[in-house]
Amino acid sequence: MTKTFEPSQLLARAAAAREKAYAPYSRFTVGAALLAAGGKIYTGCNIENASYGLSVCAERVALWKAVSEGEREFLALALVADGGGIIFPCGACRQVLAEFNPELELYLSGPEGSWQIKNLKTLLPEPFLLATGN
Ligand code: THU
Repeated sequence: MTKTFEPSQLLARAAAAREKAYAPYSRFTVGAALLAAGGKIYTGCNIENASYGLSVCAERVALWKAVSEGEREFLALALVADGGGIIFPCGACRQVLAEFNPELELYLSGPEGSWQIKNLKTLLPEPFLLATGN
């Protein structure tokens, strides 16, 4: 099912999620909002840990929340980073997002209310995927 939605609405949800970020080590806060095919939005923020390597990115927190609620199909993800600068999902998040939609639309927030659209397939052109049929 394809739903129409406003990118600005998804970006606003990501910006609100960023305010919940737990990032005492990097002090770099990130928010994500993931649009599921049925129209629900799942948000996430980065959550760091004293054992640095256990920190999790905002994108994966949003995805874990959505998948654990039974969602499997996603249309778009908005990403908002600290300081208003544009960021691209890290390599680990690209792979994890591609598991569910290798052609996910990405709305990347930039300075002064600007944003860019990218398709995940341009950031991760040949993802490793297994055809499970699930
Ligand atoms: N981070 C994200 O949450 N998403 C990204 O796409 C890049 C990086 C977080 C991880 C860490 O908590 C902080 O930003 C600095 O790397």
